[in-house]
Amino acid sequence: MDEESKPKVYVTRCIPEAGLSMVRRTCSVRVWEGELPVPREVLLEEVRDVEGLLTLLTDTVDQQLLAAAPRLRVVSNYAVGYNNIDVAACSARGIPVGHTPGVLTDTTADFAFALLLAAARRVTEGVAYVREGQWKTWGPQLLLGKDVHDATLGLLGFGRIGQAVARRGLGFGMRVLYYDPFVGRDVQDLGEPVDLETLWSESDFLSIHVPLTEQTYHLVDANVLSKMKRGAVLVNTARGPVVDHAALLDALTSGKLAAAALDVTEPEPLPPDHPLVGLPNCIVTPHMASASATTRAKMAVIAAENLLAGLEGRCLPHCVNPEVCVRT
Ligand code: DGY
Repeated sequence: MDEESKPKVYVTRCIPEAGLSMVRRTCSVRVWEGELPVPREVLLEEVRDVEGLLTLLTDTVDQQLLAAAPRLRVVSNYAVGYNNIDVAACSARGIPVGHTPGVLTDTTADFAFALLLAAARRVTEGVAYVREGQWKTWGPQLLLGKDVHDATLGLLGFGRIGQAVARRGLGFGMRVLYYDPFVGRDVQDLGEPVDLETLWSESDFLSIHVPLTEQTYHLVDANVLSKMKRGAVLVNTARGPVVDHAALLDALTSGKLAAAALDVTEPEPLPPDHPLVGLPNCIVTPHMASASATTRAKMAVIAAENLLAGLEGRCLPHCVNPEVCVRT
């Protein structure tokens, strides 16, 4: 196929070659090579003639973008979450939207658990203590943390990643509670389904695994934090805006919460002078829970498969609006 007759595709960042090479084989591809997200005005210009768009969670796909892309036939998001995309607007245009579930489940759960352990046992504070030259002797009261074993792990959201975190919690001898109105009873061997009030009041560790929607925006607010156990730990690897950061700051500075660990924030990036970044009992990492080389390559392959399927008019292997796929 000559270059002119290949479908035109825009890729908004350098994703791993495993996926990019698949797209390059049959498409005419332009890639935003920058380290930072493609500027909005550039994106709007680039999509004018494309049939396929491979996006990241840092790109907003909304009415304005769709209007600028009259030939667009598929959007493939390089992430499992898709709150950056106006799916209803895509569906209205008959555009299927792909995402990358499954391959990042265990990698993300490993990281959520790493954060939980690090926050409980004050790992980053210990590292800073040594680096700052404060380590003079073994101390009976030095950097005392919270035990993870025998504690209660509460999971807000019990989809693939929440369940994978539950498995890790059970392995550490934790009691596992979860709240998720969308999962069936077949997962009960992984934990005890509870209502939200019980989740807030009985969890020693609360780990968040819900998507960002209108219903989950600032779900963990001052009211919820006030209902949590004194000395509890909050872990968020889902989406930053699920937690009200001002309320979290109060809870961490007042001693209501012992610690928090956030891989996702509002906004992203969180500025280095943000008060949460400076708190010793708050770990902030740069949205890296799925960042293993193997997983990021697998995500790239799935994103490419979704994109190519859409361009060929086939159902996407992982589609968030499958009703559109059925029609095409
Ligand atoms: C996702 O996939 O939604 C994560 O936030 C990044 O891997």
